[in-house]
Amino acid sequence: MARRIILDCDPGIDDSVALSMALFHRSLDVVAITAVEGNVPAEMATKNVQTVIEQLDPPRLPRIGAATPNDNPDYRDACFIHGRDGLGEAGFVTADHHQRHFSEKIICDEVRAAPGEIDIVCLGPLTNVARAIQRDPHFVENVGEIIMMGGSFNGIGNITQTAEFNIYCDPESARDVFHAPVKKTLIPLDITSQVQFAMNVLDLLPKQSTSVGRFLRRVIPYLFRSYHEQLGLEAVQIHDAIALLQVIEPQLFELEAWAGDVEVKGELTRGMTVFEKRRARNTSHNLEVARVVAASDARQAVMRCLNT
Ligand code: BDR
Ligand code: CA
Repeated sequence: MARRIILDCDPGIDDSVALSMALFHRSLDVVAITAVEGNVPAEMATKNVQTVIEQLDPPRLPRIGAATPNDNPDYRDACFIHGRDGLGEAGFVTADHHQRHFSEKIICDEVRAAPGEIDIVCLGPLTNVARAIQRDPHFVENVGEIIMMGGSFNGIGNITQTAEFNIYCDPESARDVFHAPVKKTLIPLDITSQVQFAMNVLDLLPKQSTSVGRFLRRVIPYLFRSYHEQLGLEAVQIHDAIALLQVIEPQLFELEAWAGDVEVKGELTRGMTVFEKRRARNTSHNLEVARVVAASDARQAVMRCLNT
């Protein structure tokens, strides 16, 4: 039976690659795609979810949840990586979306309707999940697993010296989710960034005659440009696609149980993920963390998923 998931995301080019993998994968049943403010502001995130679904035209249509702004005064977008529209400035035209339910409502509804059956894959800031926890007192007992792309185990960030982007966007929400008594798996930056994709990935995409091939050829080239211009790199990292692989091909990762938390105060460390690494501590572990990835196999698995 296909695993039932909600994809909570902030598209974003790498989010879009993950959606392209998930929406056609036979082992997944994507019941909803919920937008969250992150790579792009809330309204644009919702619009981009709609755009990606329209462009991909998957066999089953998931519900869509609308993002609302987060409450973090330090929030900033990541358009410098993903383009002004979050989708590589490809000029997609999307019909105005009708009145939509907010993401946290969709998440609560779906989880309540199928207790224990729905996993949530978080590819953006943890705002929606934290709000779902707050909104529904039974959420933590009803939700399956929460799989998150975010944080950094080695303490090196990508948006600040110490913070990874998703956690930095809304550290308070991330902290609430880290503390929640549910099964959680974290795929941190130091794992996702080990899987690099060189320019030849463009030749390995599905044919232009497929919706996935057409769509990705319009968005991925921008990522090479921004990685080159902003980061001085010739290869790109597709973080969210790697995090999704943990759900599709978990054997590619080695997980360890850790006690993890989120710094919400520090001048230089706000949004940093902090792990209890001292010896002989009795802190109980609150999440599984991916510590090893078979990078070359993961790269091939991404291409395989896109080409199915
Ligand atoms: C994360 O930040 C975003 O820019 C990406 O979409 C990914 O989810 C990587 O730090
Ligand atoms: Ca993302």
